[in-house]
Amino acid sequence: MNKARIVDNPESLNHAGSARPMPAIESKLPRVGTTIFTVMSALAAERGAVNLGQGFPDFECDPALVDAVAGAMRAGHNQYPPMTGLPVLRQAIASKIAALYGRSYNADTEITVTAGATQAILTAILAVVREGDEVIVLEPAYDSYIPNILLAGGKPVTVPLSASFRIDWPAVQAAISPRTRAILINSPHNPSGTTLTRADLNQLGAVAREHDLFVISDEVYEHMVFDGQAHESVCRVPELAERSFVVSSFGKTYHVTGWKVAYCAAPAAMTAEFRKVHQFNVFTVNTPVQHGLAAFMQDPAPYLDLPAFYQHKRDLFRAGLASTRFRLLPCEGTYFQVVDYSAMSDLPEAEFAQWLTTEIGVAAIPLSAFYDQPREQGLVRFCFAKRDETLKLALERLARL
Ligand SMILES: Cc1ncc(COP(=O)(O)O)c(C=O)c1O
Repeated sequence: MNKARIVDNPESLNHAGSARPMPAIESKLPRVGTTIFTVMSALAAERGAVNLGQGFPDFECDPALVDAVAGAMRAGHNQYPPMTGLPVLRQAIASKIAALYGRSYNADTEITVTAGATQAILTAILAVVREGDEVIVLEPAYDSYIPNILLAGGKPVTVPLSASFRIDWPAVQAAISPRTRAILINSPHNPSGTTLTRADLNQLGAVAREHDLFVISDEVYEHMVFDGQAHESVCRVPELAERSFVVSSFGKTYHVTGWKVAYCAAPAAMTAEFRKVHQFNVFTVNTPVQHGLAAFMQDPAPYLDLPAFYQHKRDLFRAGLASTRFRLLPCEGTYFQVVDYSAMSDLPEAEFAQWLTTEIGVAAIPLSAFYDQPREQGLVRFCFAKRDETLKLALERLARL
Protein backbone atom coordinates (compact mmCIF):
# COMPACT_ATOMS: atom_id res chain seq x y z
CA MET A 1 0.00 0.00 0.00
CA ASN A 2 1.26 3.47 -0.80
CA LYS A 3 1.79 5.47 2.33
CA ALA A 4 1.78 9.24 2.48
CA ARG A 5 5.21 10.54 3.22
CA ILE A 6 6.24 13.88 4.59
CA VAL A 7 9.00 15.31 2.47
CA ASP A 8 11.07 17.91 4.27
CA ASN A 9 12.65 19.17 1.14
CA PRO A 10 10.36 18.33 -1.76
CA GLU A 11 12.94 19.63 -4.24
CA SER A 12 15.34 16.87 -3.37
CA LEU A 13 13.29 13.73 -4.05
CA ASN A 14 11.69 12.15 -7.07
CA HIS A 15 8.83 9.65 -6.94
CA ALA A 16 11.23 6.83 -6.19
CA GLY A 17 12.70 8.79 -3.32
CA SER A 18 16.10 9.43 -4.90
CA ALA A 19 17.75 12.83 -5.33
CA ARG A 20 17.34 14.64 -8.68
CA PRO A 21 17.62 18.23 -9.78
CA MET A 22 14.53 20.42 -10.16
CA PRO A 23 13.58 21.59 -13.66
CA ALA A 24 15.64 24.62 -14.57
CA ILE A 25 13.75 27.87 -14.22
CA GLU A 26 13.87 29.80 -17.44
CA SER A 27 12.59 33.15 -16.31
CA LYS A 28 9.95 34.78 -18.47
CA LEU A 29 11.17 38.08 -17.04
CA PRO A 30 14.93 37.62 -16.69
CA ARG A 31 15.66 41.32 -16.32
CA VAL A 32 13.12 42.03 -13.60
CA GLY A 33 14.41 42.48 -10.07
CA THR A 34 13.14 44.30 -6.98
CA THR A 35 11.68 47.61 -8.09
CA ILE A 36 13.37 50.88 -7.24
CA PHE A 37 10.17 51.88 -5.39
CA THR A 38 10.62 49.04 -2.91
CA VAL A 39 14.36 49.72 -2.62
CA MET A 40 13.90 53.45 -1.94
CA SER A 41 11.02 52.90 0.51
CA ALA A 42 13.16 50.41 2.47
CA LEU A 43 16.11 52.82 2.48
CA ALA A 44 13.85 55.71 3.57
CA ALA A 45 12.50 53.62 6.48
CA GLU A 46 15.99 52.50 7.51
CA ARG A 47 17.36 56.08 7.48
CA GLY A 48 14.28 57.81 8.90
CA ALA A 49 13.98 59.82 5.68
CA VAL A 50 10.78 61.57 4.60
CA ASN A 51 9.49 59.22 1.93
CA LEU A 52 8.57 61.27 -1.13
CA GLY A 53 9.60 58.31 -3.29
CA GLN A 54 6.82 55.78 -3.74
CA GLY A 55 3.49 57.24 -4.86
CA PHE A 56 1.01 56.85 -2.02
CA PRO A 57 -0.72 59.26 0.37
CA ASP A 58 0.40 59.45 4.01
CA PHE A 59 -3.08 60.66 5.06
CA GLU A 60 -6.33 58.80 5.64
CA CYS A 61 -9.24 58.42 3.26
CA ASP A 62 -12.67 59.89 4.04
CA PRO A 63 -14.02 58.10 7.17
CA ALA A 64 -17.40 57.86 5.42
CA LEU A 65 -15.79 55.51 2.87
CA VAL A 66 -14.40 53.30 5.63
CA ASP A 67 -17.85 53.29 7.28
CA ALA A 68 -19.48 52.30 3.98
CA VAL A 69 -17.09 49.36 3.53
CA ALA A 70 -17.36 48.30 7.19
CA GLY A 71 -21.15 48.58 6.94
CA ALA A 72 -21.13 46.31 3.89
CA MET A 73 -19.09 43.72 5.78
CA ARG A 74 -21.45 43.87 8.76
CA ALA A 75 -24.43 43.60 6.45
CA GLY A 76 -23.03 40.28 5.26
CA HIS A 77 -21.63 41.24 1.86
CA ASN A 78 -18.68 38.92 2.26
CA GLN A 79 -19.01 36.26 -0.44
CA TYR A 80 -18.05 36.25 -4.13
CA PRO A 81 -19.61 39.09 -6.10
CA PRO A 82 -20.42 38.74 -9.83
CA MET A 83 -17.28 38.09 -11.91
CA THR A 84 -17.54 41.42 -13.75
CA GLY A 85 -18.09 43.54 -10.62
CA LEU A 86 -21.18 44.51 -8.63
CA PRO A 87 -23.89 45.88 -10.95
CA VAL A 88 -24.44 48.88 -8.66
CA LEU A 89 -20.74 49.80 -8.84
CA ARG A 90 -20.51 49.28 -12.61
CA GLN A 91 -23.55 51.51 -13.00
CA ALA A 92 -21.99 54.21 -10.80
CA ILE A 93 -18.81 54.07 -12.91
CA ALA A 94 -20.76 54.29 -16.18
CA SER A 95 -22.75 57.28 -14.84
CA LYS A 96 -19.55 59.04 -13.78
CA ILE A 97 -17.88 58.56 -17.16
CA ALA A 98 -21.01 59.77 -18.97
CA ALA A 99 -21.24 62.88 -16.77
CA LEU A 100 -17.55 63.78 -17.04
CA TYR A 101 -16.61 62.76 -20.57
CA GLY A 102 -19.89 62.36 -22.44
CA ARG A 103 -19.34 58.70 -23.39
CA SER A 104 -22.10 56.29 -22.56
CA TYR A 105 -20.78 52.83 -21.62
CA ASN A 106 -23.15 49.94 -21.03
CA ALA A 107 -22.60 48.96 -17.38
CA ASP A 108 -23.42 45.30 -18.10
CA THR A 109 -21.25 44.72 -21.13
CA GLU A 110 -18.59 47.44 -21.17
CA ILE A 111 -17.36 48.04 -17.60
CA THR A 112 -15.34 45.55 -15.54
CA VAL A 113 -14.19 46.02 -11.94
CA THR A 114 -10.56 44.91 -11.45
CA ALA A 115 -8.05 44.32 -8.68
CA GLY A 116 -6.23 47.58 -9.24
CA ALA A 117 -5.23 49.31 -12.45
CA THR A 118 -2.14 47.11 -12.65
CA GLN A 119 -4.36 44.05 -13.14
CA ALA A 120 -6.59 45.90 -15.61
CA ILE A 121 -3.60 46.86 -17.77
CA LEU A 122 -2.14 43.34 -17.71
CA THR A 123 -5.56 41.87 -18.52
CA ALA A 124 -6.08 44.23 -21.47
CA ILE A 125 -2.64 43.34 -22.82
CA LEU A 126 -3.18 39.59 -22.39
CA ALA A 127 -6.56 39.94 -24.11
CA VAL A 128 -5.31 41.51 -27.34
CA VAL A 129 -1.53 41.08 -27.67
CA ARG A 130 -0.54 37.87 -29.47
CA GLU A 131 2.85 36.14 -29.76
CA GLY A 132 5.20 38.44 -31.67
CA ASP A 133 2.87 41.46 -31.71
CA GLU A 134 4.55 44.81 -31.17
CA VAL A 135 3.24 47.31 -28.64
CA ILE A 136 4.30 50.96 -28.55
CA VAL A 137 5.38 52.16 -25.09
CA LEU A 138 6.18 55.83 -24.56
CA GLU A 139 9.10 56.32 -22.20
CA PRO A 140 9.50 57.20 -19.39
CA ALA A 141 6.77 54.67 -18.53
CA TYR A 142 5.10 53.09 -15.52
CA ASP A 143 7.14 50.04 -14.65
CA SER A 144 4.56 47.28 -15.23
CA TYR A 145 3.94 47.95 -18.95
CA ILE A 146 7.00 46.29 -20.45
CA PRO A 147 6.91 43.13 -18.28
CA ASN A 148 3.17 42.84 -19.08
CA ILE A 149 3.85 42.91 -22.83
CA LEU A 150 6.63 40.34 -22.46
CA LEU A 151 4.35 38.02 -20.47
CA ALA A 152 1.86 38.17 -23.36
CA GLY A 153 4.61 37.11 -25.76
CA GLY A 154 4.63 40.56 -27.33
CA LYS A 155 7.49 42.85 -28.19
CA PRO A 156 7.66 46.25 -26.48
CA VAL A 157 8.77 49.01 -28.85
CA THR A 158 9.85 52.01 -26.81
CA VAL A 159 9.53 55.56 -28.10
CA PRO A 160 11.02 58.34 -25.95
CA LEU A 161 8.91 61.36 -25.08
CA SER A 162 10.42 64.70 -26.10
CA ALA A 163 12.76 66.65 -23.78
CA SER A 164 9.68 68.37 -22.33
CA PHE A 165 7.93 64.97 -21.97
CA ARG A 166 5.45 65.48 -24.82
CA ILE A 167 4.56 62.78 -27.33
CA ASP A 168 6.81 62.95 -30.37
CA TRP A 169 4.19 61.92 -32.97
CA PRO A 170 6.61 61.61 -35.92
CA ALA A 171 8.72 59.27 -33.74
CA VAL A 172 5.60 57.23 -32.91
CA GLN A 173 4.73 56.99 -36.63
CA ALA A 174 8.29 55.90 -37.40
CA ALA A 175 8.15 53.15 -34.75
CA ILE A 176 4.99 51.54 -36.16
CA SER A 177 5.37 48.37 -38.24
CA PRO A 178 2.92 45.88 -39.74
CA ARG A 179 3.25 43.91 -36.48
CA THR A 180 2.17 46.82 -34.25
CA ARG A 181 -0.98 45.81 -32.40
CA ALA A 182 -1.46 48.40 -29.68
CA ILE A 183 -0.21 51.60 -28.11
CA LEU A 184 -0.11 52.30 -24.39
CA ILE A 185 -0.67 55.85 -23.23
CA ASN A 186 -0.80 57.41 -19.78
CA SER A 187 -2.27 60.82 -19.00
CA PRO A 188 -1.83 62.55 -16.58
CA HIS A 189 1.62 61.08 -16.89
CA ASN A 190 3.64 59.31 -14.25
CA PRO A 191 6.46 60.28 -13.74
CA SER A 192 6.61 63.57 -15.68
CA GLY A 193 3.34 65.24 -14.56
CA THR A 194 2.48 66.26 -18.15
CA THR A 195 -1.00 65.82 -19.63
CA LEU A 196 -2.23 65.03 -23.12
CA THR A 197 -3.98 67.79 -25.07
CA ARG A 198 -6.93 67.48 -27.42
CA ALA A 199 -4.43 67.84 -30.27
CA ASP A 200 -2.61 64.76 -28.91
CA LEU A 201 -5.87 62.82 -28.86
CA ASN A 202 -6.52 63.81 -32.45
CA GLN A 203 -3.04 62.60 -33.45
CA LEU A 204 -3.56 59.39 -31.50
CA GLY A 205 -6.89 58.85 -33.23
CA ALA A 206 -5.30 59.34 -36.65
CA VAL A 207 -2.39 56.95 -35.91
CA ALA A 208 -4.65 54.30 -34.33
CA ARG A 209 -7.08 54.44 -37.26
CA GLU A 210 -4.39 54.38 -39.95
CA HIS A 211 -2.63 51.35 -38.43
CA ASP A 212 -5.68 49.72 -36.87
CA LEU A 213 -4.29 49.72 -33.32
CA PHE A 214 -5.84 49.06 -29.94
CA VAL A 215 -5.25 51.80 -27.39
CA ILE A 216 -4.65 51.01 -23.73
CA SER A 217 -5.18 54.26 -21.89
CA ASP A 218 -3.93 54.44 -18.32
CA GLU A 219 -5.91 57.29 -16.74
CA VAL A 220 -5.42 56.51 -13.05
CA TYR A 221 -4.64 60.18 -12.29
CA GLU A 222 -7.72 61.44 -14.18
CA HIS A 223 -8.86 63.58 -11.23
CA MET A 224 -5.50 65.24 -10.65
CA VAL A 225 -5.33 67.86 -13.38
CA PHE A 226 -4.47 71.41 -12.34
CA ASP A 227 -4.83 75.08 -13.26
CA GLY A 228 -8.41 74.74 -14.46
CA GLN A 229 -7.54 72.31 -17.26
CA ALA A 230 -9.86 69.44 -18.14
CA HIS A 231 -8.71 65.83 -18.24
CA GLU A 232 -8.60 64.73 -21.87
CA SER A 233 -9.83 61.17 -21.56
CA VAL A 234 -9.67 59.07 -24.72
CA CYS A 235 -13.34 58.31 -24.20
CA ARG A 236 -14.17 61.91 -25.15
CA VAL A 237 -13.26 61.07 -28.76
CA PRO A 238 -15.67 58.46 -30.21
CA GLU A 239 -13.24 57.02 -32.77
CA LEU A 240 -10.68 56.48 -29.98
CA ALA A 241 -13.15 55.15 -27.43
CA GLU A 242 -14.18 52.52 -29.98
CA ARG A 243 -10.72 50.94 -29.87
CA SER A 244 -9.59 51.76 -26.30
CA PHE A 245 -9.36 50.04 -22.98
CA VAL A 246 -9.71 52.94 -20.53
CA VAL A 247 -8.34 52.21 -17.06
CA SER A 248 -8.79 54.19 -13.84
CA SER A 249 -8.14 53.41 -10.17
CA PHE A 250 -10.13 54.04 -7.00
CA GLY A 251 -6.84 53.74 -5.11
CA LYS A 252 -5.63 57.06 -6.50
CA THR A 253 -8.97 58.87 -6.49
CA TYR A 254 -10.01 58.04 -2.93
CA HIS A 255 -6.57 57.81 -1.21
CA VAL A 256 -6.83 54.02 -0.76
CA THR A 257 -3.96 52.62 -2.82
CA GLY A 258 -3.86 49.51 -0.62
CA TRP A 259 -7.40 48.47 -1.51
CA LYS A 260 -6.41 47.71 -5.10
CA VAL A 261 -9.77 48.25 -6.77
CA ALA A 262 -10.00 49.81 -10.21
CA TYR A 263 -11.90 49.38 -13.46
CA CYS A 264 -11.64 49.07 -17.20
CA ALA A 265 -14.13 50.56 -19.68
CA ALA A 266 -14.08 49.26 -23.26
CA PRO A 267 -16.53 48.49 -26.09
CA ALA A 268 -18.51 45.26 -25.65
CA ALA A 269 -16.47 43.06 -28.03
CA MET A 270 -13.19 44.13 -26.38
CA THR A 271 -14.69 43.77 -22.91
CA ALA A 272 -15.82 40.23 -23.74
CA GLU A 273 -12.18 39.24 -24.45
CA PHE A 274 -10.96 41.21 -21.43
CA ARG A 275 -13.37 39.28 -19.20
CA LYS A 276 -12.20 35.92 -20.52
CA VAL A 277 -8.76 36.71 -19.12
CA HIS A 278 -10.10 38.40 -16.00
CA GLN A 279 -12.31 35.39 -15.20
CA PHE A 280 -9.36 33.00 -14.98
CA ASN A 281 -6.98 35.42 -13.37
CA VAL A 282 -8.61 37.16 -10.40
CA PHE A 283 -12.22 36.04 -11.14
CA THR A 284 -13.79 38.51 -8.68
CA VAL A 285 -12.82 41.59 -6.68
CA ASN A 286 -13.34 42.31 -2.98
CA THR A 287 -17.11 42.43 -2.33
CA PRO A 288 -17.47 44.80 0.66
CA VAL A 289 -15.07 47.32 -0.87
CA GLN A 290 -17.18 47.33 -4.05
CA HIS A 291 -20.35 47.97 -2.02
CA GLY A 292 -18.64 50.76 -0.10
CA LEU A 293 -17.32 52.40 -3.26
CA ALA A 294 -20.71 52.21 -4.98
CA ALA A 295 -22.36 54.01 -2.05
CA PHE A 296 -19.55 56.58 -1.74
CA MET A 297 -19.60 57.35 -5.47
CA GLN A 298 -23.16 58.64 -5.27
CA ASP A 299 -21.64 61.96 -4.18
CA PRO A 300 -19.34 63.37 -6.90
CA ALA A 301 -17.82 66.00 -4.55
CA PRO A 302 -14.80 63.91 -3.46
CA TYR A 303 -13.45 63.52 -6.98
CA LEU A 304 -14.61 66.95 -8.15
CA ASP A 305 -12.70 68.51 -5.23
CA LEU A 306 -9.53 66.54 -5.92
CA PRO A 307 -7.84 68.94 -8.36
CA ALA A 308 -7.99 71.79 -5.81
CA PHE A 309 -6.87 69.48 -3.00
CA TYR A 310 -3.75 68.37 -4.86
CA GLN A 311 -3.10 71.72 -6.52
CA HIS A 312 -2.69 73.19 -3.03
CA LYS A 313 -0.08 70.53 -2.24
CA ARG A 314 1.67 71.01 -5.56
CA ASP A 315 1.87 74.78 -5.00
CA LEU A 316 3.08 74.41 -1.41
CA PHE A 317 5.81 72.01 -2.51
CA ARG A 318 6.88 74.02 -5.55
CA ALA A 319 6.98 77.28 -3.56
CA GLY A 320 9.26 75.62 -1.00
CA LEU A 321 11.57 74.24 -3.68
CA ALA A 322 11.82 77.60 -5.46
CA SER A 323 14.58 78.72 -3.09
CA THR A 324 16.71 75.61 -3.75
CA ARG A 325 18.97 74.98 -6.72
CA PHE A 326 16.57 72.37 -8.10
CA ARG A 327 15.08 73.35 -11.44
CA LEU A 328 11.36 72.56 -11.34
CA LEU A 329 9.75 70.97 -14.37
CA PRO A 330 6.10 71.88 -15.04
CA CYS A 331 3.52 69.80 -13.17
CA GLU A 332 0.16 69.83 -14.97
CA GLY A 333 -1.28 66.75 -13.30
CA THR A 334 -0.63 63.64 -11.10
CA TYR A 335 0.86 63.96 -7.62
CA PHE A 336 4.45 63.95 -8.82
CA GLN A 337 6.98 66.75 -9.18
CA VAL A 338 10.09 66.18 -11.30
CA VAL A 339 13.19 68.27 -10.56
CA ASP A 340 16.48 68.72 -12.36
CA TYR A 341 19.39 68.57 -9.89
CA SER A 342 22.21 69.06 -12.41
CA ALA A 343 23.11 72.50 -11.01
CA MET A 344 24.11 70.87 -7.72
CA SER A 345 25.47 67.42 -8.57
CA ASP A 346 26.70 65.32 -11.45
CA LEU A 347 25.98 62.02 -9.71
CA PRO A 348 23.95 59.50 -11.74
CA GLU A 349 20.25 59.64 -10.86
CA ALA A 350 20.08 56.44 -8.76
CA GLU A 351 23.13 57.51 -6.72
CA PHE A 352 21.78 61.02 -6.28
CA ALA A 353 18.44 59.62 -5.04
CA GLN A 354 20.27 57.39 -2.57
CA TRP A 355 22.47 60.27 -1.40
CA LEU A 356 19.40 62.48 -0.97
CA THR A 357 17.75 59.78 1.13
CA THR A 358 20.72 58.96 3.34
CA GLU A 359 22.39 62.38 3.69
CA ILE A 360 19.52 64.88 3.37
CA GLY A 361 16.73 62.67 4.69
CA VAL A 362 14.28 62.90 1.79
CA ALA A 363 13.60 59.96 -0.54
CA ALA A 364 12.99 60.45 -4.26
CA ILE A 365 12.85 58.19 -7.33
CA PRO A 366 15.40 58.48 -10.17
CA LEU A 367 13.75 59.04 -13.58
CA SER A 368 16.11 56.43 -15.03
CA ALA A 369 13.91 53.81 -13.29
CA PHE A 370 11.17 54.52 -15.83
CA TYR A 371 13.27 53.57 -18.87
CA ASP A 372 14.00 50.13 -20.26
CA GLN A 373 17.54 51.25 -21.08
CA PRO A 374 18.31 53.62 -18.20
CA ARG A 375 19.32 57.09 -19.30
CA GLU A 376 20.87 59.88 -17.23
CA GLN A 377 19.14 63.27 -17.39
CA GLY A 378 19.85 64.62 -13.90
CA LEU A 379 16.18 64.19 -12.90
CA VAL A 380 14.41 62.77 -9.85
CA ARG A 381 10.70 62.52 -8.99
CA PHE A 382 9.10 63.56 -5.70
CA CYS A 383 5.58 62.52 -4.66
CA PHE A 384 3.58 65.32 -3.02
CA ALA A 385 0.57 63.20 -1.96
CA LYS A 386 1.54 63.88 1.64
CA ARG A 387 0.23 65.80 4.64
CA ASP A 388 1.27 69.45 4.57
CA GLU A 389 3.44 68.81 7.67
CA THR A 390 5.27 66.03 5.83
CA LEU A 391 5.89 68.28 2.84
CA LYS A 392 7.10 71.10 5.13
CA LEU A 393 9.52 68.76 6.91
CA ALA A 394 10.87 67.56 3.55
CA LEU A 395 11.23 71.17 2.38
CA GLU A 396 13.13 72.13 5.55
CA ARG A 397 15.61 69.35 4.83
CA LEU A 398 15.84 70.13 1.10
CA ALA A 399 16.50 73.80 1.93
CA ARG A 400 19.96 72.69 3.15
CA LEU A 401 20.94 71.89 -0.41
C1 LIG B 1 0.60 55.30 -14.13
C2 LIG B 1 0.12 54.28 -13.18
N1 LIG B 1 -0.63 53.27 -13.63
C3 LIG B 1 -1.09 52.30 -12.83
C4 LIG B 1 -0.81 52.32 -11.47
C5 LIG B 1 -1.33 51.21 -10.60
O1 LIG B 1 -2.54 51.47 -10.02
P1 LIG B 1 -3.19 50.41 -9.00
O2 LIG B 1 -2.56 50.65 -7.66
O3 LIG B 1 -4.65 50.68 -9.04
O4 LIG B 1 -2.85 49.05 -9.51
C6 LIG B 1 -0.03 53.35 -10.95
C7 LIG B 1 0.31 53.36 -9.52
O5 LIG B 1 1.24 53.99 -9.09
C8 LIG B 1 0.45 54.35 -11.83
O6 LIG B 1 1.21 55.35 -11.38
